[in-house]
Amino acid sequence: MNELKREGDINRGPLRAEWSKQLSLQSSKLVQEDEQYFLKQSMSTPCLEAVADAEGCYIMDVNGKKYLDFHGNSLHQVGYKNPYVVEAVKRQLIELPFIPRRFTSEITIRAAQSLVNKTTSKDYRVLFTPSGSAAVGLALKIARKVTGRHKVISMWESFHGAGLESIAVGGEYVFKKDMGPLMPGVLNAIPYNGYRNIFNSESPEEIAAFCLNYLEYMIENEGEIGAILLEPIRATDTHVPPRSYFEGLRRLCDRYGILLIFDEIPTALYRSGTFYVHQQFDIEPDILVLGKGLGGGVIPQAAVLAKTKYDCAGDISLGHYTHEKPALGSAAICATINYIDDHQLGEHCLELSSFIRKELEHLYEQYECIGDIRIAGLLISIELVKDRVTKQKHSDLAEKILYFCLENGLSFKISGGNCLTWHPSLIVTEQQLSYAIHLLKKGLNQLIE
Ligand SMILES: Cc1ncc(COP(=O)(O)O)c(C=O)c1O
Repeated sequence: MNELKREGDINRGPLRAEWSKQLSLQSSKLVQEDEQYFLKQSMSTPCLEAVADAEGCYIMDVNGKKYLDFHGNSLHQVGYKNPYVVEAVKRQLIELPFIPRRFTSEITIRAAQSLVNKTTSKDYRVLFTPSGSAAVGLALKIARKVTGRHKVISMWESFHGAGLESIAVGGEYVFKKDMGPLMPGVLNAIPYNGYRNIFNSESPEEIAAFCLNYLEYMIENEGEIGAILLEPIRATDTHVPPRSYFEGLRRLCDRYGILLIFDEIPTALYRSGTFYVHQQFDIEPDILVLGKGLGGGVIPQAAVLAKTKYDCAGDISLGHYTHEKPALGSAAICATINYIDDHQLGEHCLELSSFIRKELEHLYEQYECIGDIRIAGLLISIELVKDRVTKQKHSDLAEKILYFCLENGLSFKISGGNCLTWHPSLIVTEQQLSYAIHLLKKGLNQLIE
């Protein structure tokens, strides 16, 4: 297996071993105890540290050290312990903590309504699920029911959750290895960023046209495709296809009666610069999948929004989740959206996005090892390469920078082996972003050989 084609960074290596050695007694005791009670898994164990608190843009470890958290599992758009969310969830906990199936309540209706109101057409119906992975499964079920076709095109190297159905559509081998036969009928297309690498073209429109032509070729030759599923902007390495790609996707799906499903689980709620990612491309998906930040960084919460015309599965049980009308999750959704609106986090995100772009462009001019910088809102990727001609991944440097930053109080993750993936909270300040830039620069000066 190619160790580098992975969602996150590698937890077992000499640098991690060194990191573990410098943990305090209290921290290592907890990390070891964690190993004693939890199953091991790639990219999650052994744990880095033990956390004692999380507030705003920061997490704090058991020794009182603060980390500016640019990882946060992409769920902290409104920051940790957001006062709106915490208060709303507390209130809901006391008033009505659970809504049994077959009943409804004002709070869950308001949550669904506020998600629909944020869409452009306001022409969607909602189902809630407890996790993003379950929401992806639900979206695929809706597509099967609507089209009567089970085949799905998703993207190679994509990620849509760790459940058995989501790893079938996901394209990362580290999730599929040893899992045996997966859901049939899944075809992986090469994503926009994949063609970009192979094609070696600098013209986004040219690459988009090539991707779309190949997709059409797949659709025509395979037949019976019911859905195309993708992240409109891949969260991990921030590849942003041009508008023509999305217009073409929409046209293809309409022409062949295919449902277009967008997984915006880590990227929605203004993280990419617009409330929903697709709104910057002026098209709408047939099905939109949301999660992570929806629960305000407090409650695990996901949702599926399907166009009203696809509300046609009343004769079967689609979701049937115990928490399908989630009282606490709904309170968290309403509070999160209110906070975003009241504090104009969308505008703030765009302002800080221009700020970080300028800062990183400046670094790009100074450091040959920065191969590319890709930014959409506050989705930020900094790609480290051995040189700009061969663009060979500089994974060693990326890993060294990660541990240097962790030592100095900045947490983020590495994607694809060499991409520094920064997803700060949307309440981040210019000073906090400047600190991250300062650390990156210091790390590069110190660690480039
Ligand atoms: C793009 C994408 N889809 C789906 C998921 C799965 O969400 P969950 O972990 O809530 O199941 C994730 C989680 O990282 C994700 O990044």
